[in-house]
Amino acid sequence: MRNKERACDECGIYSEKYALSEGTSQEELLHLIASLNNKNSISGILVQLPLPAHIDEKTIINAISPEKDVDAFHPVNVGKIMVGNYDFVPCTPAGVMELIKESGIDLCGKECVIVGRSNIVGKPQAMLLLHQNGTVTICHSKTVNLAEKTRNADILVAAVGIPNFIKGDMIKKGAVVIDVGINRLENKKLCGDVEFETAEKVAGAITPVPGGVGPMTIAMLMKNTVKAAIVNGTRG
Ligand code: GUN
Repeated sequence: MRNKERACDECGIYSEKYALSEGTSQEELLHLIASLNNKNSISGILVQLPLPAHIDEKTIINAISPEKDVDAFHPVNVGKIMVGNYDFVPCTPAGVMELIKESGIDLCGKECVIVGRSNIVGKPQAMLLLHQNGTVTICHSKTVNLAEKTRNADILVAAVGIPNFIKGDMIKKGAVVIDVGINRLENKKLCGDVEFETAEKVAGAITPVPGGVGPMTIAMLMKNTVKAAIVNGTRG
């Protein structure tokens, strides 16, 4: 959240942060969302996840106005992504697509394997890759013979949330490896879902953690927010 706030400052985007206590009730949070939905000077609303156990994530996401849903988590926006007609793209998958595009990687017909099936990354990532004519496989922690699938990937997106889960011997030589994982180890160091040291020896291109997908996610959030301001006419 600190980085998101800083990015807003750098882009000249006005932001308000509500650092609510863990004991905040669902009603209080819904009340705050309703007031921001109605506030014309606010273009975009983001509720940082995960939420405490006593708050229902779906209820909260559903309460955000789809026009201000710069995370693209609301079912209306999820549906729009599914059919390929969207204003907002979820920030992390959008960041991954931008990295692929800027690196000049052609996805047409390529084997794209995603490890992870979350609503935030895995599922929307599959749609975005599919829209670019990738041949998409979604794997997850229960996939049988996972390494067989990942070794088939021309583009491998790791978004499973398990530190160093993807090893070098699970990667095809020359594959593009995009590591979405951000895991904090016991020694406080950050690491991804890919074991970088072994993976970089076989990958054709690989993103580091930190410094790879993370900054792209924030850049895409800024893009969605600017888009929201234009679409909603809510420039304050
Ligand atoms: N928690 C982890 N990633 C995200 C994200 O992209 N958006 C929100 N709102 N919460 C998150």
